[in-house]
This record gives sequence, structure tokens and C-alpha cells, in this order.
Amino acid sequence: MIAYFNNDFLDKDLVRISPDDRGFLLADGLYEVLRSYGGKLFRAADHIARLNYGARHLRLPQGDFSYLVPVAEELLRRNGLADAEATVYFQITRGAAKRSHAFPAPQPPLTVYGQANPFDEQAMLRRLETGVAAITLPDQRWARCDMKTVGLTANVLANQAAHEAGAAEAILVRDGVLIEGTHSNFMAVFGGTLVTAPTSNYILAGITRKAVLELCARHGLPVELRPIFASEFHLAEEAMIVGTTVEVTPVLTVDGRPVGNGRPGPLARRLQALFAAEVGRPWPLG
Ligand SMILES: Cc1ncc(COP(=O)(O)O)c(C=O)c1O
Repeated sequence: MIAYFNNDFLDKDLVRISPDDRGFLLADGLYEVLRSYGGKLFRAADHIARLNYGARHLRLPQGDFSYLVPVAEELLRRNGLADAEATVYFQITRGAAKRSHAFPAPQPPLTVYGQANPFDEQAMLRRLETGVAAITLPDQRWARCDMKTVGLTANVLANQAAHEAGAAEAILVRDGVLIEGTHSNFMAVFGGTLVTAPTSNYILAGITRKAVLELCARHGLPVELRPIFASEFHLAEEAMIVGTTVEVTPVLTVDGRPVGNGRPGPLARRLQALFAAEVGRPWPLG
């Protein structure tokens, strides 16, 4: 595999990241995951905008990462993924320096790493079709979930707990509100209206969430941006997780209880169809 590392394309096995890297020592960095559909990056500008937002809030010395779009395209090309279903991962850290909590002075060069991977589209499409189970867990993350930082300990533990419970995702609950998943945003349907939490410091502004909300606006589907309370969730007709690697995946059960009639709902199906059109995928499948 050919990776990108600090302005170079090289064999992934030749990448050498310092043990002093602040990403390794302190999780002092950001990441992004972009999806490529048949070689075409999905909403790359939105991913770069989110990265730039994170960089500003982490006070990284560099503010614009738009040069990573051609890097992503080059990674796809060099790895034979120019026509394939793939993801591109980027990670940027504050660089390598003697360990200290405060920013290093002088500031070392940032560490910028990227790689492209084939994406198992068939497995995802099966989950789009069948839907998945989710569990709820207390949100044990910090209060800056709006930055896509590499410090994912709470997400890792919650997602592992979901897997051990036979579920695909854990929906994180803070102050009685179903905030989002460990790697997805969460949406539910009440009275035919799509409801999802407004963006805040407790939620990642998902690119898929944004795309879904735009599709709803374009097609006249009712949306309400407000918290989804755990106490009202039994009234939901549908639920779904949305994200780069899950698109619009229906959630059929939460904590073992069926959502609505326990089958993928009409709004989830409509959004899947609209999303498929957006990414150039034939729909329905087969
Ligand atoms: C915590 C969290 N929320 C939401 C999302 C969905 O964001 P996106 O649609 O940009 O992939 C992700 C994606 O990784 C995530 O990690």
C-alpha cells in the first residue's frame, strides 16, 4: 500500500512515526474519513472544512488543509482504487516533540498521514437492506465532540460493548438525550418528521447528516432539529444511524426493543434512495 506521509508518497511499511509524536503520546490531533464512490470523493470540501474547523479549535499552526483533496485523489490512483469503492483516512497531529502538555516551542512540523483502503460496499449494502440493532450507553466522552480528534477511547469502549451485545452501534446518551453514535449521527422519526439533534459541542457535525438534511430540504421532507429524549424514544416510528461508512442505516431495535414495527421504515427507505441517487448508485438494489 502506498501511503502519504509529510509531503511524500511512500510504501506504508516505510512510514516512520516518532514515538515522540503528540498523536501517539497525547492524542493531540485530528482525523478525517472520506468516502470515494467509484473514485469520486463524496463532499470532500465539507470534510476539509471540518478539518480546518478542528485545526482552528486545536490551535494548530496551519489553517487550511484543502491541499489534501488532490492528495486523496493521488492515494486512490496509486493504490489502484481510482474506479473502486474506497475510503481515505487522514490524520494530522501537532508533531513530534519532547513530551509536555503545553504546546511545544518551537512548534515542530505537523505530522500529516494519509491512506486509502478498499471499502466493503457489499457488506454495507446488506446492512442498509436489513437494518441493524443498537444499544444505548452513557456518553462518557468529553465536551468537545465537535472536533474530530483522535482521542476515541470512549467511542472505542462503547462500540466494543455494542458488538459484545450483538449490536452494530451504541447510541450515546447525555443528560437524557440520545446524542449520536460512536461513529455515526442518530436520527429518529416522530409523526412522520425526521428529528435529529442540533449541532453543538456534544456532537460531531457529520457530513452525511448534513447531506441527509439537505436532501430533506430539497425534497420537502419535514425535519426538526431538536434533542431526542430517551424518555420519548418509545414513540419513535423509525430510527437510523447516518455516517460516511454507514450512509443511512435503519436501526431496528434499541436495547432489544423494536423501533416502530421493527422493520426499516418508509422514511429510511426514501432517504436511502435519495442518497443512492446522490452518489450515483442504482436503486433499489437487485
Ligand atoms: C462521533 C461521530 N459522529 C458522527 C459521525 C458521522 O460523520 P460523517 O457523516 O462525517 O462520517 C462520525 C463519523 O465518524 C463520528 O465519529
